[in-house]
Amino acid sequence: MPGNLKILSFEKPIFVLAPLAGYTDLPFRSVVKKFGADLTVSEMLSSNALSYGSAKTFHMLKKSPIENPYSVQIAGAEVDVIKKAVEILNTQEGIDIIDLNCGCPVPKIVGHGSGSSLLLNLPLMGEIIRTIKDTSNKSLTSVKIRLGFEKKNHIDIAKMVEDSGADFLAVHGRTRAGRFKAAVDYDAIKEIKEAVSIPVIANGDIDSYEKAQWVLEHTGADGVMIGRGAIGAPWIFHQLKSGSADIDMSLKHAIIMEHFDKMIEFYGERGVTMFRKHVHTYSKGYRGASILRNDVNRINESLEFRGVIDEFFKNSEILI
Ligand SMILES: Cc1cc2nc3c(=O)[nH]c(=O)nc-3n(C[C@H](O)[C@H](O)[C@H](O)COP(=O)(O)O)c2cc1C
Repeated sequence: MPGNLKILSFEKPIFVLAPLAGYTDLPFRSVVKKFGADLTVSEMLSSNALSYGSAKTFHMLKKSPIENPYSVQIAGAEVDVIKKAVEILNTQEGIDIIDLNCGCPVPKIVGHGSGSSLLLNLPLMGEIIRTIKDTSNKSLTSVKIRLGFEKKNHIDIAKMVEDSGADFLAVHGRTRAGRFKAAVDYDAIKEIKEAVSIPVIANGDIDSYEKAQWVLEHTGADGVMIGRGAIGAPWIFHQLKSGSADIDMSLKHAIIMEHFDKMIEFYGERGVTMFRKHVHTYSKGYRGASILRNDVNRINESLEFRGVIDEFFKNSEILI
């Protein structure tokens, strides 16, 4: 068995929360985890920031006690810096997996040669994966890829990932050129699954039980990873696991409030402005949502903010 797959069993398909910078912080992951996500991943952390000990990055590393196993995703393009970042992660307890970001399409990241840029230089990508694997004292090493940069060369990429010692990989079924809009190529994910022997997790546009089942059957993947489908709906993992789309409105209300309280606990009053975007997504489909959004956009104080959203989600049970 490659690596230590005991901490993460692939005997039956697993459900993974995708890393989403700006969303999948500790407060969000901790509410998602309650609904049965098998694996949660930190937001992408810059290996550079880790290596020079950025306090903000260390705060982003923290995990909720219920996040077992916990994966930390790093981005970078320089072998020495990656090695230093992993050595620093080695001093931190509670991390089970180090994941390498080889998919981020954002110009700032690509410009530094990181994220999806690594797909253009497979020997370097392989060297970075080997460096993580050889340096890390964590149980597992994983890699998150796209199908290519401009063109699809997913089989070459996946084989390089496997040959470099990664224990499993996650595949966002688009190229970098396809950003977040092109049709997801599930056939390509299936081809990857057939080409490598390490577990493969399928990702891209999976937002329901039916879609997850279809993707698992179509690709033969060992799990599915859900990103945007969880924004505004951390309970999606309950739906994915139970096959039932029903979520009680009072449970939704309780989860939204718990999410808010955890934001304030984790970020202090700064959590108020950060929570606005979550109010926007949570209130989609509710009558009076636009009034609520206008209200919360001008409130900066946590108690007042809490009172307004509590009232709204407690009482606005009527869906448009
Ligand atoms: C706002 C946002 C932030 C993201 N941040 C990351 C990130 O930090 N690391 C990463 O590997 N992918 C990141 N992604 C990509 C997602 O993990 C995922 O691969 C992609 O959104 C497709 O899956 P989905 O359709 O389930 O959202 C991000 C995507 C979005 C929309």
